[in-house]
Amino acid sequence: MEKRECKNTDLKLSVLGTGCWTFGGGSYWGKQDQKDVNEVVHASIDLGINYFDTAEAYNDGRSESSLGEAIREIQREKALIGSKVSPSNCYKDMLIKHCDNSLKRLQTDYIDIYMLHWPIHPHAIRHFTNRPNIIENPPEMDETLDALRILKKQGKIRYFGVSNFSSNRLKNLPEEEITVNELPYNLLCRAIEYETLPYCQENGIGVISYMALLQGILSGKYTSIEDIPAMQRRTRHFDSKKNSESRHGEAGAEKEFLLALDGIRAICKSSGLSMAEVAIQWIVQNPAITCTLAGARNIAQLEANVKAVDLKLSQDILAELDIATQRLMNKLGNHFDYYESVENDRTL
Ligand SMILES: NC(=O)c1ccc[n+]([C@@H]2O[C@H](COP(=O)([O-])OP(=O)(O)OC[C@H]3O[C@@H](n4cnc5c(N)ncnc54)[C@H](OP(=O)(O)O)[C@@H]3O)[C@@H](O)[C@H]2O)c1
Repeated sequence: MEKRECKNTDLKLSVLGTGCWTFGGGSYWGKQDQKDVNEVVHASIDLGINYFDTAEAYNDGRSESSLGEAIREIQREKALIGSKVSPSNCYKDMLIKHCDNSLKRLQTDYIDIYMLHWPIHPHAIRHFTNRPNIIENPPEMDETLDALRILKKQGKIRYFGVSNFSSNRLKNLPEEEITVNELPYNLLCRAIEYETLPYCQENGIGVISYMALLQGILSGKYTSIEDIPAMQRRTRHFDSKKNSESRHGEAGAEKEFLLALDGIRAICKSSGLSMAEVAIQWIVQNPAITCTLAGARNIAQLEANVKAVDLKLSQDILAELDIATQRLMNKLGNHFDYYESVENDRTL
């Protein structure tokens, strides 16, 4: 599988990475069998994937533990592991301790890319803790950077990066030290194209994109909005009033969402490609994306997603996809926090 260089590093990431959020199972994604995890991780390596993405927050650490369990059985240097610290845990000593805990769960001596999961901002921190002293006196970015530099010096992390940082937030950071920004990106979530993706490109920051299939929706397996599970229907695409799990409070963009999906379906039909293939290849073909993440719960999903990597969409298809998804992109605007209202955007 093609590998892309992450600027300012000696890392080369496969264009498709394995997202590990479901690993360990939990309330968001439901049960996840460790046998399937082992198979997905081992098959990923066999199929040329080298990047695995997890976070301390995923399933209360069980995603890291589950990935660690699966990776134990392969040579460590064959895999690049990315993990993330929550913004509520970024006080200097606390961050160092949390990294040590991630290392223990991952059963490894080092993390290849260690990211700050969300900006250190009350809107984001509230999502990870309800402790008022942390929300009111959040960690300073300078102490977070100090802690990350210490961890790098100690060899516990090879590189550090951020996730969900808008261009506005990146401007205040030492870009030569920030290896990557992990951002949501797919045919139905194109907000990073407005500012943040060009900013990363211009400043040599690698982009790991997540949610290639919009949490399964772009696999084409749902036939109506009502079919989509409530947890996957919480984004600003959908009317918040119709879903008790939703918290953005907005009216959604269901008309534009359905039009976009119809357009993508028509392109799949005429090209003979599956929706997952079109969705994943559309991202892979964008040279501004270093690595795109897709979650796979079993080998069948993994193989279907990997199949997309070697396809090539023609310029005509790319133009048709652009037209099909443009109205939705305009409607949702320049806000890539798809789970919160524009006022509560955690990325700004
Ligand atoms: N930095 C961040 O803030 C952030 C946020 C979100 C995600 N991420 C990372 O990005 C990774 C990928 O994102 P994601 O898992 O949220 O979304 P995704 O990759 O768009 O969707 C993955 C889900 O779609 C379904 N699926 C996958 N392949 C399929 C196929 N071929 N056919 C049918 N269904 C398929 C599976 O769930 P079902 O079988 O249950 O439908 C799978 O768990 C995560 O695992 C995580 O590592 C990072």
